[in-house]
Amino acid sequence: MTGQAQATILGIETSCDETAASIVVRDQSGRGVIRSNVVRSQLDEHAAFGGVVPELAARAHVEWLDHIIAQALDEAGMELSEVDAIAATAGPGLIGGVLVGLTTAKALAASLDKPLLAVNHLEGHALTARLTNGVEFPYLMLLVSGGHSQFVLVRGVGDYERWGGTIDDALGEAFDKVAKLLSLGHPGGPAVEAIAERGDPKRFKFPRPLLREARLDFSFSGLKTAVRLQAEALAPLSDQDAADIAASFQDTVAVVIETRAGQALEKFAELFPGQEKRLVVAGGVAANQRIAAALDVVCTKHDAQLIVPPIALCTDNGAMIAWAGAERFALGTENKLTVAARPRWPLDDPDMNVNTNVS
Ligand code: KG4
Ligand code: ZN
Repeated sequence: MTGQAQATILGIETSCDETAASIVVRDQSGRGVIRSNVVRSQLDEHAAFGGVVPELAARAHVEWLDHIIAQALDEAGMELSEVDAIAATAGPGLIGGVLVGLTTAKALAASLDKPLLAVNHLEGHALTARLTNGVEFPYLMLLVSGGHSQFVLVRGVGDYERWGGTIDDALGEAFDKVAKLLSLGHPGGPAVEAIAERGDPKRFKFPRPLLREARLDFSFSGLKTAVRLQAEALAPLSDQDAADIAASFQDTVAVVIETRAGQALEKFAELFPGQEKRLVVAGGVAANQRIAAALDVVCTKHDAQLIVPPIALCTDNGAMIAWAGAERFALGTENKLTVAARPRWPLDDPDMNVNTNVS
């Protein structure tokens, strides 16, 4: 397989609480077209527990994945035999779910005698902007989801440098915990943003952890504790109190993200003088308008391009896995059927190198 040929890839995503499958075609010039992108969220299954229950997630993937794949093929107007390769998330993620998707992909690859592509979920997020916006390397990615908060320098397919991450909670997780504290339900991000709209962001001054330090890391657990202490001090909370807490929390986070993104863009400029600066955002928290506005401000200030893919492609989906698979397939990567599912798999792992066949 060379970079010249067109390839049709089936992508499978099951690493958290979305069962997803997609058909993506990558043409000779490297452009991608999403032929179908089916996502079944398990929100309802987990809602009563206030978070994702791994065993329930795995069971729902087992129950639904075959149907979701069939639907993805159907919507693309394709037969399985027309697919050139099968890509599936092999990690990082909840291991029961990852096993369901990867094992299904292995079975399909073996029975159809097609190549298997074991995709790192984070690489799926990292390369999505190339599918949606045709972004060229190198660029900076800010991944902010329920499980991750990190800056990654994306130099090429399989060539990543992690520039910092969270030392405790992920940003989406912090939103979810604040929502729980304010009795707003799960997932918390959209609910916190909704009530923050009528809140006063200046009423409470919450700590901005690590902000004075030069490192590009995040820490959100101290902020979360400060929010809890404030809520306890005011209890019982009026609607306005809750809205003010949500707005003040969200504003604090936006300032942290804005400052950190500025530092990351400066580092990028030092490393690539004269190169156009590009910041790509990925993960569910990218939907937050206050954070998006903060990123807009910092990118304008640093003369950088801000790229936010459509939100349905920022959150977990099969198209990002199919596309990452397509990029790897074009470079000649193919995995052995013995490839293992991995609960942890950082993007700068040596196994990410496109010349390394993970086995
Ligand atoms: O990327 P994602 O769909 O799933 C993974 O974690 O992989 O991200 C979900 C996270 C949740 O924590 C959710 O609360 C957060 O993204 N989120 C938001 C918003 N929409 C989703 N956080 C803040 N504001 C939002 N509007
Ligand atoms: Zn994700």
